[in-house]
Amino acid sequence: MLPPAHIASLRQRLAASVGAANLLVDPEDTARYLRDARDRYQGTALAVVRPASTAEVSAVVAGCAAAGVGIVPQGGNTGMCGGATPQSQSPCIVLALERMNRIRGIDVADSTMTVEAGCTLAAVQAAAREAGKLFPMSLGSEGSCQIGGNIATNAGGTAVLRYGCMRELVLGLEVVLPDGRVWNALRRLRKDNTGYDLKQLIIGSEGTLGVVTGAVLKLYARPARALTALVALHGVEQVLGLLGEFRRSFGEHITTFEAMSHSEYALVLRTHRDLRDPLPQRAAWYAFIEVTSELDTMDLRAALESCLARSQQAGRVIDATIADSLAQADNIWGIRHGVTEANLRAGAAVSHDTSVPVSSIADFVAGSEAAIRAAFPAAQVLFVGHVGDGNIHVVAILPREDYAGAEAFARVADEINALVDRVTVDLGGSISAEHGIGRSNRARLRRFKDPIELEFMVRVKAMLDPAGLMNPGALL
Ligand code: FAD
Ligand code: LAC
Ligand code: ZN
Repeated sequence: MLPPAHIASLRQRLAASVGAANLLVDPEDTARYLRDARDRYQGTALAVVRPASTAEVSAVVAGCAAAGVGIVPQGGNTGMCGGATPQSQSPCIVLALERMNRIRGIDVADSTMTVEAGCTLAAVQAAAREAGKLFPMSLGSEGSCQIGGNIATNAGGTAVLRYGCMRELVLGLEVVLPDGRVWNALRRLRKDNTGYDLKQLIIGSEGTLGVVTGAVLKLYARPARALTALVALHGVEQVLGLLGEFRRSFGEHITTFEAMSHSEYALVLRTHRDLRDPLPQRAAWYAFIEVTSELDTMDLRAALESCLARSQQAGRVIDATIADSLAQADNIWGIRHGVTEANLRAGAAVSHDTSVPVSSIADFVAGSEAAIRAAFPAAQVLFVGHVGDGNIHVVAILPREDYAGAEAFARVADEINALVDRVTVDLGGSISAEHGIGRSNRARLRRFKDPIELEFMVRVKAMLDPAGLMNPGALL
């Protein structure tokens, strides 16, 4: 506990840095910053501070460093692992980036865009679109999550297959370091071999090494044609067979290849009454596919129809539909993106973020389902994910009344995590493909991360943030 006079003087200094209106201390004002989007994590903070410029962030960080107070950077607060919710034993502030939401510039010749960290992903996509370009990252949370959060978590999403994760989409960064200094590396270079890549160290560091305030992002050509298909299949092996067929036929033109088990598909449609099922026949698994082409001379539809027809003849595909309108495509992607909310409403949902080699996905599905069912016969087991990237989310949903209360839920989540992690690790996979570690997965990281890598992570953290004030309690 800090003495009250110490807290008062820190608050005064912070108010002088950002303006009194942007220093929130009233519980009514701070509540939404102290709870995550899924209502899983709840925290406390000395204040929520809302700077509007890099200079203000720098002043806030320097003020906290001088007072020995921790800083929890917060973007859209949509993260899945409690990384943006202050839950440390030591006193903290929340540093919310939402007012840093300017597009600083778009350079069409360089195909780059310079943005502030608090821009939502949707705003960045829209600005790129207005300039006739594409910023390809796409997540179900894109209306709320921020570029700074996407960078801090190295976000993935549905377009990784073609364009890569956030790591591959960032050329430059501006970061306020733990001592308050501003590191300006807003470079637009495609090649730069001048030693260690500090930018890549910051990407995926979950706010533990500094506050991202700006970024230079890569832009791409907008596709001239894009088609969405929803495909019904007999099982996950058939989904993987179809992925192989699409890779052979379309190469770089597959933007998205996602999959879902029937259990998840039916739950989404039961939950979201505004969505409709475009396929009449029931199937065990579904694939959600987008193919695109920058060339308007390419007959994408003919290629898609013939690829699906070949797969149907081979007995892989039960049925398929290609969206004929934007509304039909939106309905299909609405089913895909409706999963998080549907799972939360269905009961006590324990979800995982596994990646395995693509060739091991079927083994992961069989192994994790068998392990969960054997230990929890009452569980519904659902699968959804980015199979083109080997990233599959297995979700166990248990009766809510059996696991009421945070402690009971945490206990069962640990048990199910352990079952799933065993299968993951045996297949050479990762316990966190795209969501990160945050506060909820730290013990799992310690259990499974290579000791040499873990040791170097701890040393890097100690070097850049010796006082341990950047996002204390997250990641390490
Ligand atoms: P927050 O939740 O605010 O923060 C996440 C972490 O980043 C925290 O550790 C925080 O301290 C740190 N941070 C935030 N901003 C900064 C900054 N400026 N500087 C330094 N550190 C910072 N994720 C995927 O990868 N793929 C998906 O497909 C996907 N789908 C989702 C769908 C739904 C419906 C929801 C609710 C979430 C989904 N997510 C997905 C998870 C989440 O949206 C991503 O992790 C996203 O990148 C988090 O961004 P945010 O701005 O909300 O970050
Ligand atoms: C998704 C989020 C949960 O893939 O990562 O829907
Ligand atoms: Zn995902």
